[in-house]
Amino acid sequence: MKVLVVGSGGREHAVVDALAQSSRISKIFAAPGNGGIAEQAELVAISADDIERLASFAREQRVDLTFVGPEVPLSKGIVDVFIGHGMPVIGPTADQARLESSKSFAKRFFETNQIPTAAFSECSTPAKAYHVLERSKYPVVIKADGLAAGKGVVIAQRPDEARDAIKLLMEAKSLGEAGAKLVIEEFLAGEEASFHVFADGATFQPMVAAQDHKRRFDGDSGPNTGGMGAYSIDTILSIAQHDAVVNRIIRPTLQAARSYSGILYAGLMLTSDGPKLLEYNARFGDPETQVILFRLKTDLLDVFTDIVEHRLAARQLEWRNEAAATVVLVAREYPGRVESGKEITGLNEAKRIEGVKVYHAGTRSEGGRIYTNGGRVLNVTARGATLAQALEKAYFVAQMIEFDGKDYRRDIGKKGLAK
Ligand SMILES: Nc1ncnc2c1ncn2[C@@H]1O[C@H](COP(=O)(O)OP(=O)(O)O)[C@@H](O)[C@H]1O
Ligand SMILES: [Mg+2]
Repeated sequence: MKVLVVGSGGREHAVVDALAQSSRISKIFAAPGNGGIAEQAELVAISADDIERLASFAREQRVDLTFVGPEVPLSKGIVDVFIGHGMPVIGPTADQARLESSKSFAKRFFETNQIPTAAFSECSTPAKAYHVLERSKYPVVIKADGLAAGKGVVIAQRPDEARDAIKLLMEAKSLGEAGAKLVIEEFLAGEEASFHVFADGATFQPMVAAQDHKRRFDGDSGPNTGGMGAYSIDTILSIAQHDAVVNRIIRPTLQAARSYSGILYAGLMLTSDGPKLLEYNARFGDPETQVILFRLKTDLLDVFTDIVEHRLAARQLEWRNEAAATVVLVAREYPGRVESGKEITGLNEAKRIEGVKVYHAGTRSEGGRIYTNGGRVLNVTARGATLAQALEKAYFVAQMIEFDGKDYRRDIGKKGLAK
């Protein structure tokens, strides 16, 4: 089979790497891919958002199956276009992807379907938003309605901070149209967890749980980022919590969003009152995918084929009874402006270490060398019998790899060790 993977991050590298293990793969294309993906796939110089060119490419190359990593092409309807051309594709339609691309749509959906979530108000004008704040408890959570690449949520401790956030998002339009509407919601206390399922339009199969680390610095301090690391172990959710997520959150969602197909990722808060849904993403999380797929024993191409053929019900997913952890190596200035083009060394040595994969994110390959190309550079991912062993290995390799300005968090998985 010929497969096209759309995207260029660590998530897409992990997907390409898993597909490359399949005996049924004859060719993988990645658009636009990165320096690490180039070792397992042919890179295609088309941006992940250029839907028409991706569709033409897939048709000309007779691609059998396309997987879409990022949310922007999904929300712009890449799946609708591929389906329109009769080309098999993994992902939800633009309409289905509104569960991610509009927070107000999603919250109303949760409410209608009685899915446990934070109490909320939807605000279409600044006046309404200021009014809602007057009767809010603090901290309060303010969310831009539209896609904002992780920059659309403010947790305000005090009324003045909350008013500033509204001024910035709605009046100064700091995120453009994404902030034209806001959701103001109740603050929930607890641990967060990421819960993914494969869905084929009729049924679903849960994946192992994961937890990511969004803040830039140790101890969950500093600005939010695209993710500084993640881990996966079975104890992230108790059996009761797992059942509550499946029965009270995922099942009613997919019963209501009947034909939803692709990956559905629930961002959860594990409150003292049971798991509550913070948000949905209509795709795989990054860097959670790196640890989840590193535990998947089942052939990922088989799972993808089940999805497009609506045969997921008969599939028994097999998972390694191990822990996995990923440490994201970033450029020191990340998430601020970074300088790219630094040569990376130590990657070949890292390849020789058993139970470790270094998934590339912001890298570029040129003349047989690998250079940094963005703020999040590499995802050093390791498996171990215990989380402690997986972390030890990941940190060992994180030290072996060098590039100018390399930095990473030292406390990935620390909360999981306590469990
Ligand atoms: N109601 C809430 N209570 C407490 N924290 C929240 C709440 N909603 C969101 N957060 C925090 O903000 C982060 C981002 O919110 P989320 O809804 O996942 O939006 P996005 O991922 O689109 O930025 C969450 O991972 C969580 O840490
Ligand atoms: Mg989120």
